Amino acid sequence: TSPAFFSGTLLSWYGRHKRSLPWRDTINPYFIWLSEVILQQTRVAQGLPYYLKFTEAYPTVQDLASAPQDEVLRLWQGLGYYSRARNMHHTAQQIVNEFGGKFPDKYAELLQLKGVGSYTAAAIASFAFKEQVAVLDGNVFRVLARIFGVADDIASPAARKVFQKLADSLIPADEPDTFNQAIMEFGAIQCTPVMPDCMFCPLQQSCFAFNHGMVQELPVKSKA
Ligand code: ADE
Repeated sequence: TSPAFFSGTLLSWYGRHKRSLPWRDTINPYFIWLSEVILQQTRVAQGLPYYLKFTEAYPTVQDLASAPQDEVLRLWQGLGYYSRARNMHHTAQQIVNEFGGKFPDKYAELLQLKGVGSYTAAAIASFAFKEQVAVLDGNVFRVLARIFGVADDIASPAARKVFQKLADSLIPADEPDTFNQAIMEFGAIQCTPVMPDCMFCPLQQSCFAFNHGMVQELPVKSKA
């Protein structure tokens, strides 16, 4: 399975299946960051009203930074993990105070922000700035493990490197943003953890797991 075939098939699938979501129609890094913070450990259906509420209450990172913390926490009510909201508020202030209110526009700089790990940094860098850096989340691990037959334990740091290298070799230079959205959406809708839709999968013939009867065995994740 060549990178061009994989990404071409994936992007074509995405064009036919993608859900219309408001953070997919923006290149505003602040909005994209908000959506990713809200969607950590939260389903899209549950997170969506919060995304709309926050972008309306705080249309800019300056608005969020200058809001009273109790108000931010009140808007967050119902999402849980309140440390996420406190970190988010703190990071907004960091962007205003240390970056002059201009959202960092490089993967390496985004990583400096509090609460922004490699996943979120890659999401913002690619979606907002078209940087060619692949996102890795549970969906991406699963898709790559199955299609390419990667049996490394996704719970191990060494495996992360294997997957990052593979994903970085697949992501196209001209559409890194769409590729990242597409591979996550493919994992969320088509190549699901339980009962993936292999019968109607455009990558079925080039899928290692399908061809080896290992769809249930991949990805490998230790219980530890
Ligand atoms: N979950 C986390 N990030 C997402 C995104 N960008 N689109 C859909 N679901 C997500």
